[in-house]
Amino acid sequence: MNKYKDSIILGIESSCDDTSAAILINGVIYSNITANQAVHEKYGGVVPELASRAHQENIVPVVSAALENAKINISELSSIAFTKGPGLLGSLLVGTSFAKSLSLSLNTPLIEVNHMKAHIHAHFIQEKNISVKTPDFPFVCLTISGGHTQIVYVKSPLEMTVIGTTIDDAVGEAFDKAGKILGLGYPAGPLIDQLASVGDDKKYAFTYPKAGNFDYSFSGLKTQFLNFIKIESLKNPLFIKRNLNDICASYQSHLVRYLLKVLDKVLEKYPCKDIALAGGVSANSKLRNEFEQFGKIKNCNTFVPKISYCTDNAAMIAMTGYFMEKEKKFTDLSTSAAARFPIS
Ligand code: KG4
Ligand code: ZN
Repeated sequence: MNKYKDSIILGIESSCDDTSAAILINGVIYSNITANQAVHEKYGGVVPELASRAHQENIVPVVSAALENAKINISELSSIAFTKGPGLLGSLLVGTSFAKSLSLSLNTPLIEVNHMKAHIHAHFIQEKNISVKTPDFPFVCLTISGGHTQIVYVKSPLEMTVIGTTIDDAVGEAFDKAGKILGLGYPAGPLIDQLASVGDDKKYAFTYPKAGNFDYSFSGLKTQFLNFIKIESLKNPLFIKRNLNDICASYQSHLVRYLLKVLDKVLEKYPCKDIALAGGVSANSKLRNEFEQFGKIKNCNTFVPKISYCTDNAAMIAMTGYFMEKEKKFTDLSTSAAARFPIS
């Protein structure tokens, strides 16, 4: 190997608080190493300045480990794919500058990746010795993370259109903010998921926000939750402690029903045989179950990514790189990080 009989892509992800590097060989994943940043836990959210600093510390060891685990020499790479955006600018700059420097020193082609497209491409990552079933095009993907909530029409690997989006906050923020109100750590999504598993999801009711036809809104829901907790805690200071599982189960269930309610409307207008979930919130166990049931009712095949490919990872960045490399969609060294970077 190589020059360039084989596609050997180094993926680099640094859009938020995870520093990740992966090696994808001919569409099959050989390594995917992620350094999480525990430093944000005590602040109840990501502190951008601290995130950039942690990326600086983590990027060299993470890339070295990805190469080593895949038994790949850096000179064998056919392309370097990195997250250009969207995300936190300071965080993106670390990955972008690193990828550019590497490309310059090795004279290896560079590919700029859209992070939200990459979440969707997580469905196409193949594993060694296991054949992974992938959605057929066109399909509709509900992409839900800490920064985004989008319903995307995926016509082909690189042609995507956003049909619906949040008009304010992302659903991941609705999980994380509720967790902060309840005194849980950050990110709260996985903790709420866990606490909800033994709670009564019909105990407390919330109302549905109103947004555009295929759009979402989560800021009102966050306020609704805050007011509910304030009022109940005034009546009973031990309210949270005594009812934590039921509160988590009821709120999580409401968010899941709301996500699927809008998706249902979209599918009436854009019927598809295959539907998918992507992004950090797609790790949610209630959503994964309800989505499968929803698919059966709608007569659609459902696709949910492996848990390790739901939250931010570089395997998905390398996968987008693989689709782009096939189309020779390379960039040059004038590329730069972009906090805003629309899918279409
Ligand atoms: O995709 P991601 O790793 O980062 C962004 O691009 O934002 O998503 C992170 C979000 C956080 O809001 C986190 O609380 C949420 O995904 N999350 C979950 C679960 N696991 C992660 N939300 C609900 N249930 C989970 N199991
Ligand atoms: Zn993400």
